[in-house]
Amino acid sequence: RTARFTVDPDFTVGPVDPRLFGSFVEHLGRCVYTGIHEPGHPTADEDGLRTDVLELVRELGVTAIRYPGGNFVSGYRWEDGVGPVGERPRRLDVAWRSTESNRFGLSEFMTFLRKAGPEAEPMMALNLGTRGITEAMDLVEYANHPGGTELSDRRVAHGDKDPFGIRLWCLGNEMDGTWQTGQKTAEEYGRLAAQTARALRSIDPDLELVACGSSARGLPTFAAWEATVLAETYEVVDHVSLHAYYEETDGDRDSFLASAVEMEAFIEEVVATCDHVGARLKSSKKLTLSFDEWNVWYQRRPNPHPVEDWQEAPRLLEDVYTVTDAVVFGTLVITLLRHADRVAVACLAQLVNVIAPIMTEPGGPAWRQTTFFPFAQASRYGRGTVLDVRVDAPTYPTDRYGDVPLLHATAVRGEDGGVTVFAVNRGRNEPLTLEVALRGLDLSRVVEHSALADADPEARNTPDAPERVVPHAVEGATLVDGTLRAVLEPMSWNVLRLR
Ligand code: AHR
Repeated sequence: RTARFTVDPDFTVGPVDPRLFGSFVEHLGRCVYTGIHEPGHPTADEDGLRTDVLELVRELGVTAIRYPGGNFVSGYRWEDGVGPVGERPRRLDVAWRSTESNRFGLSEFMTFLRKAGPEAEPMMALNLGTRGITEAMDLVEYANHPGGTELSDRRVAHGDKDPFGIRLWCLGNEMDGTWQTGQKTAEEYGRLAAQTARALRSIDPDLELVACGSSARGLPTFAAWEATVLAETYEVVDHVSLHAYYEETDGDRDSFLASAVEMEAFIEEVVATCDHVGARLKSSKKLTLSFDEWNVWYQRRPNPHPVEDWQEAPRLLEDVYTVTDAVVFGTLVITLLRHADRVAVACLAQLVNVIAPIMTEPGGPAWRQTTFFPFAQASRYGRGTVLDVRVDAPTYPTDRYGDVPLLHATAVRGEDGGVTVFAVNRGRNEPLTLEVALRGLDLSRVVEHSALADADPEARNTPDAPERVVPHAVEGATLVDGTLRAVLEPMSWNVLRLR
């Protein structure tokens, strides 16, 4: 079986915004405490940050990091997380029924970012659940104003002389969700988001603002929510958010492997809704998308860890990912790249311990989950311009999405002229031959063919076997007379680097 496509530098999707490789740190479970922050850990630095985790975060290659939630932010008072640590209040976090010590807050997060790699930048979420315009303005003034006002001087007195310069702000989180503290109707949220956006822009017109779209494509309010919210906010925001999580249900692996079909539809429907609102407003502006929560997440599985209400840093959402999950995850990364013309920001939810590519044990090791690898490789090699890839591939039947192509793929041309092909063979049992016609590209060799695949589809990395699943080099790919030929193993994620 053979799948084919042609690439030509004259036919492009668009440039990749580095923020497509963003992630997410929420005060949830052990993402912050014993995840990134664990004073007393043998690898902790002078700021209590785990340097073993920092090393992995840098290797992962994350850019924009969303903080501090998630559902958590909709009950959060940002003032609790600034100033002397010993004076910070302990509070109930009603979103996750945990106790929040506030030992980690804004200043600690900015310190973490400074160490998290050259491209790490903040994406701050504002509480528009229990709070409003004033508190949002206060936080922007505290964080970004140089000095000479009560709030900016408070930051200086807290030890942060230089303003944080945070550009990217989310106007709330999942405000359509019944589970959200302070959930709103689209009309209520649209007005509040627009008024907050105007107030923040009057402090700093250059802020980049994200309006909340739907928390899931399957919600009954999807698309109508976006249309109503954007009718209010279109001219004062830059991006609209999308959130999506995928999981295998009822043992239907073939449909799970086709999850990207749903993600593509979601992106295209939100783009269409944005453009429809823009047309109605006779606006020349085009909104972009912030896919600020995406991942594989087994929401229907019971938590295997015993957790009591109001614990500090309980073990929540600690999904252990298989090689199958990593292959699906790879198709989601490919989908984001395939829509680089409209997806400006995307955040892998989340970064450490909570549905995360990096896991830790308190006082113990940190290791890479299977999903670490597709993300790290895409962030490393998926920079430049996405080429238009139209796949011609054999299909396989799925219950949920009908006939689906066995191949999901994209190609990115770097500034040096090299091209990287990212390709997934969704077929569970058969290899797939890939043929790519490379037109108008001065390429002569395959630098590397790396694959993530395993004879055991349930293979995973654990503290006892942290490197059970890692990418391996594949021999045999050729580039002759402008055609790349390679064999993709059954159910595999592949990276083919061409020069
Ligand atoms: O990422 C986990 C949770 O999923 C976030 O807190 C919330 O925004 C979403 O529902």
